Amino acid sequence: MARVEVAASILTADFGNLYRVIRKLERAGVDRFHLDVMDGHFVPNITFGPDIVAAVRRLTGLPIDVHLMISEPARYTPQFLKAGSDTITFHVEVNEPDEVKRETLARIRGERRVAGLAVSPATEVASVRPFLDELGIIMIMTVEPGFGGQRFMAEAAAKIAEARQLLAGRPAALVHVDGGVSGETAAIVGRYGAQVCVVGSALFQRRRDTAREVVEVRQQAAQAFRPAALVG
Ligand code: DX5
Ligand code: ZN
Repeated sequence: MARVEVAASILTADFGNLYRVIRKLERAGVDRFHLDVMDGHFVPNITFGPDIVAAVRRLTGLPIDVHLMISEPARYTPQFLKAGSDTITFHVEVNEPDEVKRETLARIRGERRVAGLAVSPATEVASVRPFLDELGIIMIMTVEPGFGGQRFMAEAAAKIAEARQLLAGRPAALVHVDGGVSGETAAIVGRYGAQVCVVGSALFQRRRDTAREVVEVRQQAAQAFRPAALVG
């Protein structure tokens, strides 16, 4: 059975107690942290910058995945590299020339980090094809980027299988799924081959045990995987 990782998105966490949040999520067994950076321009929300990434870097040894929902990834990627990101994923939809996108991806790899492209629900997975040789991550959004706690968009899940096919020749590259993933929806994303499940609000539900939710997502996704789903 394939191993599926859980990346905890701290977007809906209490930033007044970041130390406690990080420790609680580590104790709950998450594999990585997923930090959502939003500029209020690419998406209608503003979150945090490289200083928070650096703060989380000081708090944990787990991998930090930075998800840039910003209009100028080329301009700001150096600051997120300096802040200690292990992976940096920006959106293929940004209004920058392809050669600039390629330069940014190469810049991330040049610093021995993992480079990724995120694909919003309405965007074709094929849009990342020109950059495949630079990609260590394809991130499939199953919500409109901008907010945590949104409804899971099942209609976007089949794109995970397309992304797995695109990366078929690159075993080290992984498909992340991001948005509305929980114990209830993990089997859907797992069926199509999700390898890293980003989980946000489901980890911060008062009534739900966080460690149990992490195990539930990992198990449901891994058990549901159907290699046949990858065949076009
Ligand atoms: C949305 C972010 C997601 C979000 C996930 O724009 O990219 O990472 O925080 O949170 P949930 O799991 O609550 O959808
Ligand atoms: Zn995200």
